[in-house]
Amino acid sequence: MTEQPEVIYLKDYQVPSFLIDQTELRFELESERTIVNAKLTMRRNPDCQQKPQGLELHGDKALQLYRITLNEQLLNESDYQRLDEGLQIFTVPDAFVLETQVEIHPDQNTALEGLYRSEGFYCTQCEAEGFRRITFYLDRPDVMSVFSTTIEADKSAYPVMLSNGNPVATGDADNGRHWITWEDPHPKPAYLFALVAGDLKMIEDQYTTSGGRDVALRIYAADKDLDKLDYAMQSLINAMRWDEQVYGREYDLDIYMIVAVDFFNMGAMENKGLNVFNTSCVLASPETTTDAGFQRVEGVVAHEYFHNWSGNRVTCRDWFQLSLKEGFTVFRDAEFSADMNSRTVKRVENVALLRTAQFAEDAGPMAHPILPASFIEISNFYTMTIYEKGAEVVRMIHTLLGAEAFRKGSDLYFSRHDGQAVTTEDFVKAMEDASGRDLTHFRNWYNQAGTPVLAVSDEFDAASQTYRLTISQSCPATPGQDTKAPFHIPVAIGLLDSQGEDLLLSDGEAQITTQVTTQVTTQILELHETRQTFEFSGIAERPVPSLLRGFSAPVKLNYPYTRENLTFLMSHDSDGFNRWEAAQKLGVDILQSLIKDYRNDKKLILDKQLAEAFKVVLADESLDKAMVAKVLTLPSEAYLSELAEEIDVDAIHHVRNFVRHQLAVQLETQLLSTYQACTCDDTYSPDAASIARRALRNVCLGYLLATEKQEHLELALAQFHEANNMTDSQAALNIVVHSGYQKAAEVILEQFYLRWSHEPLVVNQWLSVQASNPQAGTLSQVKALMQHDAFNMRNPNKVRSLIAGFSALNPVNFHALDASGYMFLADQVITLNNLNPQIASRLVTPLTRWKRYNTERQEMMKAQLQRIMDSGELSRDVFEVVSKSLA
Ligand code: ARG
Ligand code: ZN
Repeated sequence: MTEQPEVIYLKDYQVPSFLIDQTELRFELESERTIVNAKLTMRRNPDCQQKPQGLELHGDKALQLYRITLNEQLLNESDYQRLDEGLQIFTVPDAFVLETQVEIHPDQNTALEGLYRSEGFYCTQCEAEGFRRITFYLDRPDVMSVFSTTIEADKSAYPVMLSNGNPVATGDADNGRHWITWEDPHPKPAYLFALVAGDLKMIEDQYTTSGGRDVALRIYAADKDLDKLDYAMQSLINAMRWDEQVYGREYDLDIYMIVAVDFFNMGAMENKGLNVFNTSCVLASPETTTDAGFQRVEGVVAHEYFHNWSGNRVTCRDWFQLSLKEGFTVFRDAEFSADMNSRTVKRVENVALLRTAQFAEDAGPMAHPILPASFIEISNFYTMTIYEKGAEVVRMIHTLLGAEAFRKGSDLYFSRHDGQAVTTEDFVKAMEDASGRDLTHFRNWYNQAGTPVLAVSDEFDAASQTYRLTISQSCPATPGQDTKAPFHIPVAIGLLDSQGEDLLLSDGEAQITTQVTTQVTTQILELHETRQTFEFSGIAERPVPSLLRGFSAPVKLNYPYTRENLTFLMSHDSDGFNRWEAAQKLGVDILQSLIKDYRNDKKLILDKQLAEAFKVVLADESLDKAMVAKVLTLPSEAYLSELAEEIDVDAIHHVRNFVRHQLAVQLETQLLSTYQACTCDDTYSPDAASIARRALRNVCLGYLLATEKQEHLELALAQFHEANNMTDSQAALNIVVHSGYQKAAEVILEQFYLRWSHEPLVVNQWLSVQASNPQAGTLSQVKALMQHDAFNMRNPNKVRSLIAGFSALNPVNFHALDASGYMFLADQVITLNNLNPQIASRLVTPLTRWKRYNTERQEMMKAQLQRIMDSGELSRDVFEVVSKSLA
């Protein structure tokens, strides 16, 4: 049984007692071990009230300490002691130089935090608290230091040796070794430190900033991946230009480097001047990468680049403030992607993710505000809430202030806090000061968890030509927060007349700031109270309201739309997002009532309205094909689950398939002709129009196979064999495998593997297509694949593809009533707890949602959580998630 680990509270924050002005590191990389010498120039923090006699540094248990000197005096064992996770030196003067020498073992580092090896390359991951696995240090983000880093290694095995900043000196050493020194002039916290060494190749380009700085851009990867870096380079250049244009932010060093590594816990890391990327977020080529992959590369490259200002120049005071940099940076990268591609499509994808994954998290045992009050292990807080809800909160500020005032606010934030480690409060304050808006009430978004629910009702008074919208808000209890104060919620609305035209409304905000009444078609209603009525005068006929346009707040909104209202909005709403939303609502309404019928053993009959609405959409050539593809995609099983009172996995799966089958049969002719109209054999390009065409084509293909007609299987197989790009071949593979054509599936799975076995990222896709297969027998397939050459438990991408592909993307099989899915997942968590706690703890997620299922499943899921709990010494990561889930 694991001892209860310490809980860290935001309210206990104290400024550091010491500062580190200078950090000089020297790494001697050897095959069995690495020696790290650290020379820290330290002094007492003048802002700290206490004057402790001694000094406490963070440091992992596994650091093997060789020697310590204080102002060049060798310390002996009576001068210091090892702490559980650190080092205490009993007496230090006000200013001093501390030198330590430790030995570490990158080859044995399977947690992938600190310094580790990835397929022969040395690399680091220090956020959040990985630097303490490299050397003794004040490993907290409010301690910022100027770093100088010397790396020494074998010259032939490690020809390239990189760290933050600029290279200042290099030379040869004995025994075929060489060394290099890098200096980073910008003070930074240790979590932004990086080191990379290996036989890396690179592509290089150049960028001149608006202020005239010439920046060398270098992207490093293994030789075999050198041909997959161009898209990342172009994305980087686009991001640099965009940040100058939209935020006035320029890059501030002469080199910007990105390195691609195979073994990585997350997507990528914004280390100053030296980003380290998961290969899955940087490599891209038409043959090996899907459209979604290209867009991920563009988005993540931009995200890490934008961190140079929102994260690095202005960083976090402590890890409770994580959303300060992550929420803001996700908002920035989402806007960048919207500008580079289709704004509406990007918004739809974001919202779909938010309200499945984030809403589910906010309704579960790990629910936390975007500014959490406590944690056991900070790695567990790199969550959908911190990132995606955090971005929505910044987006709401943008909506409330308007683009211009928001920009003034961000300028003020960056200038006021450049070089500082600050809090979300500082961000909100800058927004207030620059705009003159009072965001006092808005701050509840930072401290309260849970997804608010809006109930909207309306009335129309023909005599006085008045229309009234009444909005009530509530928010369910979350762990530690039984009751919630109301939120300040911007609700963007429009009112449609019977012709589908927007009515002109008065722009309340413009009235306040310019004293003139301007007319708008979308008005922002500001909800502050538990219940508020908004009145519109001069309305000639009862309008159809278009509510929460663009998803202006991360809430659930209920309004008693009729199915006629929804089809009307689907074709007329001027807000593209809400046209899609109307289709989703129609789909949800129909699916939910069929799920009820299914559970009551009633015969399923599909309302004609859905096929009719889809037919209209398929016939309209003026529509963006990407949006057509989105509209034709039924609400996902994950979204239906999130909305359900009690999740009936089998009913949801069965009914959704039933509806797909019905639609396919009824719309077969239209689907086939759209499929053919979207077929063309241009050379591949990941531009928005081509992506849209492929998306629509593959949605049609999916439906066509749902008819279960042999001729459509032939179509899919032809597409699989003839595709000149990974999007089309993988879509065909996925559709054939998931449609249950077992013979055909086996053949093309085999062909696909033989063709791509040398491309790990493609093989990962191959694993995940199989793991997410809803057909029977998948679990034994997954178990067999764990023994396959293609799998490696130490590689997080493999674990995500195969294990999470099964547990998170395959609800019918994962929730099998013999508990086999639950037991399988618990086994993997127990194994990974020792190898890689961060990955282990993320894998637990589907089990943590046990309260959402019927009692039979609840008991089985809890039993597996308990089995993990009792399995021995748990990492902090796994302990926190499992114990909170069982609480
Ligand atoms: N800051 C990184 C980002 O761009 C995430 C790194 C988190 N790493 C971790 N091990 N928790 O979002
Ligand atoms: Zn980030």
